[in-house]
Amino acid sequence: MLPRRTLTGLAAALLATAAAAEARADAAMALDKGCLSCHGDPPRAKAPTMAALAQRYAPLNADELAQKAERLCEHRLLGGIAAHEKLTPEESLRLVRWIAAGAR
Ligand code: HEC
Repeated sequence: MLPRRTLTGLAAALLATAAAAEARADAAMALDKGCLSCHGDPPRAKAPTMAALAQRYAPLNADELAQKAERLCEHRLLGGIAAHEKLTPEESLRLVRWIAAGAR
């Protein structure tokens, strides 16, 4: 039997690894969905950079982020952005949370 402290340490390390893997997966998703082609640095046209979006989203609470995610993937009659509209609500929420957590 391992001492309890070792087990707690192992669990914490595993959780940290899982969180880092999740952030990497979200970053890969942002790349895969083309988000960075407009929100990269330098950004394209009038798109804000991911860093600027991260700063804007960081103070928002879970409900506010859910609202942002819902609006991001809504279809618009005019001037819609295909990359936004193609997101499923789940993808949109994941990416909005990833942005609020620093977009790294
Ligand atoms: C073709 C360029 C383009 C691509 C690709 C793109 N965006 Fe955007 N995005 C914009 C522009 C321009 C704005 C600012 C105007 C607006 O809000 O419609 C914006 C705004 C945003 C906002 C701020 C919405 C708000 O007002 O709170 C978020 C979040 C966002 N984009 C996320 C994403 C994500 C995630 C992806 C990838 C799935 C993505 N964007 C792909 C151009 C793009």
